[in-house]
Amino acid sequence: MAAEAFVAQLNEQIGHEFAAHQQYVACAVYYDSETLPQLARFFYRQALEERDHAMMMVQYLLDADEQVQIPGVSAPRVDFADIVAPVSLALDQERRVTEQINALAAVARNAGDYTSEQFMQWFIKEQVEEVATMSDLLRVVERSGGSPMDVETWMAREHGGGAAADPTAPRPAGAGA
Ligand SMILES: [Fe+2]
Ligand SMILES: [Fe+2]
Repeated sequence: MAAEAFVAQLNEQIGHEFAAHQQYVACAVYYDSETLPQLARFFYRQALEERDHAMMMVQYLLDADEQVQIPGVSAPRVDFADIVAPVSLALDQERRVTEQINALAAVARNAGDYTSEQFMQWFIKEQVEEVATMSDLLRVVERSGGSPMDVETWMAREHGGGAAADPTAPRPAGAGA
């Protein structure tokens, strides 16, 4: 059992996370088409993380024996003016999601649903990291002054390794399936 208002809003958030997945795929494809493989790789990986976020929320609702919605999403932006635009859009998106995640924690708390409030704690921490990562990347692409190869070198150095597994992360539905 989870608070009704929280369940409704978490189901909406599943849609926002899938929309973020689609948007990051679109960003990755744009960089891939510009032959900027490091930027493409970064966004393909971010896309998978967004899918995981959606599936963690699905698993939470399954565990709580609540109704799960898999909302449809509107088409992502695919027309980018330059290599800065996708990162700038991504930062806006992460800031928006941070507000949504905080609102979810507030709904749970106000309803006295402390289990759901605690579930949101991991996402709150995750959003701090994602906003910081996108802010750093935006500074780098803005500073590159039309020299994407400098950005590619920086990406290879800073984000070249695979993301380390986070043992505190909630389990995504279907993980290991
Ligand atoms: Fe997310
Ligand atoms: Fe994110």
